[in-house]
Amino acid sequence: MKKTLLQLAVVSLFATPAFAQQSVEVLHWWTSGGEASALNVLKQTLEKQGVTWNDMPVAGGGGEAAMTAVRARVTAGNPPTAVQMLGFDILDWAKQGVLADMNDVAAKNGWDKVVPTAIQKFSKYNGKWIAAPVNVHSTNWVWANKEVLAKAGVTTEPKTFDEFIADAEKVQKAGFIAIAHGGQPWQEATIFDGVAMSTGGIDYYKKAFIDLDQKALNSPTTLKVFQRMAQIRKLVDKDFSGRDWNVASGMVITGKAGFQIMGDWAKGEFLNAKKVPGKDFLCFRMPGTQGDVTFNTDQFVMFKLSDPNKTAAQAKMAADILDPSFQSSFNVVKGSVPARTDVSDAAFDDCGKKAMKDLAEANKNNTLVGSMAHGHAVPASIKNAFYDVITRHFNGQIDDKKAVTELAEAAKS
Ligand code: BGC
Repeated sequence: MKKTLLQLAVVSLFATPAFAQQSVEVLHWWTSGGEASALNVLKQTLEKQGVTWNDMPVAGGGGEAAMTAVRARVTAGNPPTAVQMLGFDILDWAKQGVLADMNDVAAKNGWDKVVPTAIQKFSKYNGKWIAAPVNVHSTNWVWANKEVLAKAGVTTEPKTFDEFIADAEKVQKAGFIAIAHGGQPWQEATIFDGVAMSTGGIDYYKKAFIDLDQKALNSPTTLKVFQRMAQIRKLVDKDFSGRDWNVASGMVITGKAGFQIMGDWAKGEFLNAKKVPGKDFLCFRMPGTQGDVTFNTDQFVMFKLSDPNKTAAQAKMAADILDPSFQSSFNVVKGSVPARTDVSDAAFDDCGKKAMKDLAEANKNNTLVGSMAHGHAVPASIKNAFYDVITRHFNGQIDDKKAVTELAEAAKS
């Protein structure tokens, strides 16, 4: 039976207005094709529950520009409902007392038992949950175009740094760009994570980039790390400056380049382009870092707000993020792995299965460490000072030796 206009108006007036008004404004830097597809999984999950999504994208891989935007919003007294954030940035905001307490949602959903301890370190402050981890990424990966490698005569995965360089040189000689790279400080730092780990191993990485030990920083190992960064610099194309990371991934996807050294968000780009791991592209750990994982976890922090509709929406979003089936469907698309230890790997492709296995093993063997490049090793002030040295060295503005002394100095920032 058709309803009259008046009947419709009455129905909509009494249709649980509190529920209908729930909305979230989400500030994030997931603007590439693969990232947007993953974000859509979250958006749709919320929309199914009647929560409206107001998108606040701030482009710029690694999130530097997004963090500047957050500061401006908070300073203006108008923080977004939820913000994508990494490691030490979360703790910095928590210290200022502006983040919402998620303890109730965490307790109701048993987060304490399922989120790995290394991640909880950045999700809790003074014993309170202040962030909801949506994934675990890691930075020590290489992505390769299988056909390009075959054409260059590279048929096995390089196991050491030197083998990797030799293979990249073969790719270059075969007429391709050897390493697709985007010249932005955070991308150079991402490569540096893997090169440092590959050169000095886990103990050196921990001492130098987590403990900020001056002896480890000011060492022949760091010199070798910079020498190796210089080797990589010779294998990128001349137009690398300023290029976005996903454009660099595109070069591997379309067969212009052989390799990209990048975190596993790159896999999201390959999948978005309908490429299949093992068939079209290969994923392997940065040679020399097998068994080690330099992780970074995207988390959503919620700012303290007074509107009850907004706080209800925040609670829903937080619960959704840690829901096991959401963790599976989101991370399958994003290229990352679940931030819970109890999610099956059944829905994941081979690279994802490997990432989950690597993460579990590294966690057990104490070889799981925070990524310096992605805010999980040192606070932003030091990270940015490191970026500056690494980038100036990569661009030939300082030599290997000077880079070592400057890096050690930067650790004091
Ligand atoms: C984030 C990823 C993101 C990447 C590139 C990283 O810092 O953790 O989620 O895809 O930056 O934007």
